[in-house]
Amino acid sequence: MSCQCIIHCVFSHLFFLILSISLLFPRLGIEVKKEENLSEWYSQVITKSEMIEYYDVSGCYVLRPWAYSIWEVIQQFFDGEIKKLGVENCYFPMFVSQSALEKEASHIEDFAPEVAWVTHSGKTELAEPIAIRPTSETVMYPTFAKWVQSHRDLPIKLNQWCNVVRWEFKHPQPFLRTREFLWQEGHTAHATEKDAADEVLQILDIYARVYEEFLAVPVVKGKKTEKEKFAGGQYTTTVEAFVSASGRAIQAATSHHLGNNFAKMFEIMFEDPLCPKQKLYAFQNSWGLTTRSIGVLTMIHGDNQGLVLPPRVAKIQVVIIPCGVTASLPENERVALLAKCHEYQKRLVCRGVRASDDFRDNYSPGWKFNHWELKGVPIRVEVGPRDIRRQEFVAVRRDTGEKVVCREDEMEALVIDLLANIQHNLYNRAKKDLQDHMVIADTMEVFQKELDSGKIVQVPFCGEVSCEDWIKKTTARDEEVDTGAPAMGAKGLCIPFEPLRQLAPGAICISGKEPAKFYTLFGRSY
Ligand SMILES: *[C@@H]1O[C@H](CO)[C@@H](O)[C@H](O)[C@H]1NC(C)=O
Ligand SMILES: [Zn+2]
Repeated sequence: MSCQCIIHCVFSHLFFLILSISLLFPRLGIEVKKEENLSEWYSQVITKSEMIEYYDVSGCYVLRPWAYSIWEVIQQFFDGEIKKLGVENCYFPMFVSQSALEKEASHIEDFAPEVAWVTHSGKTELAEPIAIRPTSETVMYPTFAKWVQSHRDLPIKLNQWCNVVRWEFKHPQPFLRTREFLWQEGHTAHATEKDAADEVLQILDIYARVYEEFLAVPVVKGKKTEKEKFAGGQYTTTVEAFVSASGRAIQAATSHHLGNNFAKMFEIMFEDPLCPKQKLYAFQNSWGLTTRSIGVLTMIHGDNQGLVLPPRVAKIQVVIIPCGVTASLPENERVALLAKCHEYQKRLVCRGVRASDDFRDNYSPGWKFNHWELKGVPIRVEVGPRDIRRQEFVAVRRDTGEKVVCREDEMEALVIDLLANIQHNLYNRAKKDLQDHMVIADTMEVFQKELDSGKIVQVPFCGEVSCEDWIKKTTARDEEVDTGAPAMGAKGLCIPFEPLRQLAPGAICISGKEPAKFYTLFGRSY
């Protein structure tokens, strides 16, 4: 081999080396595919879209403005709706005494392993350890008891927007399972069972609207099984969502009827208006929706380019990016271009659209395209010098990647229409996904097969806790096909209000033994 040839060889290797480094180095986008490694994909999406920053206490995360703004949209809608029902906001302390916390036996039994306790102030041990609320039934109800003397003191309808702490030891995931999370918790007390029961469903409807109308996430409404209901309550209603990428369901929000169980423990009682001297206990509800909702939206709509935000919850709905600003572009054209972008932004904001322009000149248009795509902004508007001459611009949809050329004078109408269209498209896509993955099974064999192919399954069920335990154990797998991790057994997700099929008379439980009471939706879940 001649000297020249060796040099040539070295150089060409060097060339490829440099090429591969430059390909690897930018690391701007999502580096794994959603369908290949969901948990790594999720972690990259939430950090690179600037929703989450990691923190040095396990299971706790920083919610950055890009995520918190979604929460604010949810808050604004939900808060408005509950106020229409006469619910008022308030705030109770985050600390609860041991005696209050342990008053309701089955309630504390469920929460005890996850309760965080304050035992010291500085180096001094407290005389009585104090718990941090995992939920506020036991915080609020001693006070409710003070406030209720007569039926005229009812109903009490309170809500608080706050944090709670549940010190879980399962694998944490930002938004989906965290040790501290934000939520609203509503707590109401009523004179009659009917009033309370009506409210449980009114609230559940609002939860469904948050998911379906804002987050573009279809939900299945139903009642929790005895095994899965809220500890200490009478019954729990729920909205359940489905993440097809993992074949797992996720509890989206719950509305509980507590009966007068807590009222008895905390003595929330009043004199019977019809029968003086006779004491009656109040009927109570509690209901909550958490920041988990943001994780659900991310899991369901996100794609291999990153986050995909439904327009109704996007902090920025339209980003306007000037293109074709090169060194050779005459100054007056550059000024005109930026002015046009700014004009578009102003016109959209005037029509109530959350539009922003991105004039940063240290980033290329290509970089900005990737950046805003990663952050899930529903529409990108591109404007170049040529577009201005033609009185046009290009709008690019985040959900489909489709490009639409639009006339300048139709700008507002087109963008507003496109936003509504994207919102509907995301919902319809997720709805179809849910429909394709929610099936019926009448035998364990079919049930197991559907479950292992990533579906959630409605099966005839007797409703017994022991039977549900058996189903969970029976459906667990030693190893899941794609992750190598053990696959958990199926949980009762809900008894759907509208099952796919009505139970046939004489139907037998999926266990093959006792009579079935209803179709129950089972599945692996978060
Ligand atoms: C997913 O990615 C993480 C982090 O890179 C890795 O530890 C894990 O093994 C991957 N899982 C699969 C199934 O490839
Ligand atoms: Zn059974």
